[in-house]
Amino acid sequence: MPQGRVKIRVERAARIFLRAGVVAFENLTLDLYDDEIACLVGPSGCGKTTLLRCIDGLLPLSDGQILLEGRPVRRPPEKMAVVFQHFGLFPWGSVYANAAYGLKLSGAPRDRIDARVSAVLKLVGLDGFTQHYPYQLSGGMQQRVGLARALATDPDVLLMDEPFAALDAQTREILQEEMLRILEQTRKTIVFVTHSIDEALLLGDRVIVLTARPARVKRIIPVPFPRPRNLAAIRADPGFGGLRARVWDLLREELRGQEREDANG
Ligand SMILES: Nc1ncnc2c1ncn2[C@@H]1O[C@H](COP(=O)(O)OP(=O)(O)OP(=O)(O)O)[C@@H](O)[C@H]1O
Ligand SMILES: [Mg+2]
Repeated sequence: MPQGRVKIRVERAARIFLRAGVVAFENLTLDLYDDEIACLVGPSGCGKTTLLRCIDGLLPLSDGQILLEGRPVRRPPEKMAVVFQHFGLFPWGSVYANAAYGLKLSGAPRDRIDARVSAVLKLVGLDGFTQHYPYQLSGGMQQRVGLARALATDPDVLLMDEPFAALDAQTREILQEEMLRILEQTRKTIVFVTHSIDEALLLGDRVIVLTARPARVKRIIPVPFPRPRNLAAIRADPGFGGLRARVWDLLREELRGQEREDANG
């Protein structure tokens, strides 16, 4: 279904937290392509965040390998950016400073940072708020800053860990639409973790269903809706309910398995 080249290859990857005695994932094999949004769903605690941290090189694998364009990832690659579950902003920095963070780290010159940060803050609708601090912003605005910071470095790969989970339903819908508008204009590999099956189907080209811990790929569901997407039309599409039921059935089996694991362990 994806047309692009393989961008990231996860090969028989495992991550074990020895001291905690937890195997987050094991024997996990997954290809991620250029120009796709791959949505990861799986039971809480199955290892999704850990997998993203390993893909970003923040955490070493215990076994197997993760290849970015054929080369093993050992530390955070320059062309990869992360949007965290809880915004991950620096409370002491202005909107501008937060959005500029990645570019500053990469040693970009001042005028390039200025131009780029202005452009991305405009893109996410925050151009009037550059000197505000995170505490002065709503949750939706804070998440936009997180998105702006990730986009500022113009990454090839964007890892998003439940970026909209902390938002109310209406803000979430607006940000989903805006994110699609922004991302459908660029060619990126986006790995998007969510607990919402609807969100996975609305945004994703593929929905990757993970098993209970230790996570492996249980099933990959291709999402047939064309791009650019119109979210209201997809919700009304007769195929949408069937797809949602399919993903739900797969997930339900795993949720039961995970409950038993957690109760025993
Ligand atoms: N630094 C760590 N040390 C020990 N155990 C950890 C560590 N990080 C994660 N774990 C464990 O690894 C497992 C997977 O955690 P992870 O955060 O990856 O799950 P998740 O799928 O992202 O869950 P959620 O959907 O709730 O965000 C959990 O059992 C967790 O307790
Ligand atoms: Mg998580």
